[in-house]
This record gives sequence, C-alpha cells and structure tokens, in this order.
Amino acid sequence: MNVKRFALASLLSAAMVALFADPVAAQSTSADLIGELNNKLLYIALPITLLVEIILIYAVLRFKDNDEPKPTKENRRLEITWTVATAIILLFVGVASYGVMADPAVTFGAGGEEVAPNDDDVLVQAEAYQWGWTMTYPDQNITAPSGENGPVITVPEGQDLYVGVTSEDVIHGFHVPDLGMKMDAMPNQVQYIKTTPEETGTYQGYCSEYCGLAHSQMYFSIEVVDQAEYDQWLDEQTADASGGDATNETANASA
Ligand code: CUA
Repeated sequence: MNVKRFALASLLSAAMVALFADPVAAQSTSADLIGELNNKLLYIALPITLLVEIILIYAVLRFKDNDEPKPTKENRRLEITWTVATAIILLFVGVASYGVMADPAVTFGAGGEEVAPNDDDVLVQAEAYQWGWTMTYPDQNITAPSGENGPVITVPEGQDLYVGVTSEDVIHGFHVPDLGMKMDAMPNQVQYIKTTPEETGTYQGYCSEYCGLAHSQMYFSIEVVDQAEYDQWLDEQTADASGGDATNETANASA
C-alpha cells in the first residue's frame, strides 16, 4: 500500500471514530461539560496520533535498507513550525480544560456556608460509613428511603442539586458516573458538589474509594423525576416523617 493511500484510509477511519464518539443526550450539566471536553481532546489527539504513526511507518519502510544513514541537517523552518504548532495545541488544550475545570458544575469547591440553594434547588447531605450511605435532606428534614441497592435520592429535573459529601469513618468516594458527579468522602470534612440533572431516570451511584470488606456493596442511586412528581414525593416523605399515615413503605433508615 502506498503512503498516500494509507494516509487517506487512516484519515477516513479517524473520521468514523470521531462520528461514533459523539455522546448521547446529556444527563446533567456536569456530564455534558466533561463529555464535550473529552470529545474536543479526542479530535485533537486523533490527527496527532495518525500523523506520528504515518511518519513512523513511512520512515521505517523508506529507510530500512539504508546502510549509511546521514545525520539530519538543521532545518529552521521545520523547527519553528513544530514549536508553534505544539504551542497552539497546548494553548487550546489548556483553555478548553480550564473552561471546564473552572465551571462550578465540575469543581464546585465552595464551603458549606456558601451553599445557598434557591427555593427549588435541592441540598442533600451524603454521609458514608463502613459500609453504606446515610442520605439526608437537611432543609426538609427527610432521610432518603432505602431501595434494593442502598438509599435512593429523589431529585427534580432541571433544578440545581447540591450534595455535601462526608464520611463517618474512613475515606469513601461519592460517584455517579452518568451524572458526572464525583467527590471524595473525607472524615470530619464536608465537600460540596453541584450539578443540574437534565434528564429523568435512575442513575446508579457507588463508592469509588476502596474502603474495606463491603466496599463493593456501597451502592445508592439518584432518581431524577419531573417537578410535579418530586413535589408529590416530598409531601409523602414529610407526611411520613411527621408520623402521618404511612401509605408507602419508605421506612426512615435510622439504622
Ligand atoms: Cu466506601 Cu468504598
């Protein structure tokens, strides 16, 4: 296969990969930002990988029978070109990454006193222990009910969600991959993350720091519902908490 044809084939396959790498609809502002950045970096990395591979293969084939190789002569123009090209690429990667890393939906970084959710926003405290989670809504005085796989946090779609992550004992990790949420759970320290869920559904969460024997069973989930359903859920929970008729079996997990 000649070099030109090989290059063309490589470029075409790169284009195919890029097409299929497009993410599906975003589930949250955080996942959206992270997915977009991942794609941007992929679009840069693919042509560079191809270019390097093509030059490498070309050099191997072209010079394999060269018994008396001569050293390369200095080439000012080439040196300036690759320095400038590298600088441009690094600048792009830096600016693109900074834009995402500095977004509160990716690194919130504010202390507890700065978490001031608006009326419809939701604040959840997630406390990890060996081995499970206690999820509470401090503003509503509710404890998230337990499902089959750990506690289920119910939140409305389209509102800001703040999660204060902490631990009772060792270091755990709060991780919901599909919503782009991740934060270490440190003892004696509450760290906040923020996102806005954009699609209803059930999102699996788990502990992402190895924390002992039952680490792999530290599941929880986030149930994103529409506002009306959330309001109704809230009413039911508050009725339960205040000793009203318990129509559903959402035992307040005080264990
Ligand atoms: Cu908790 Cu791993």
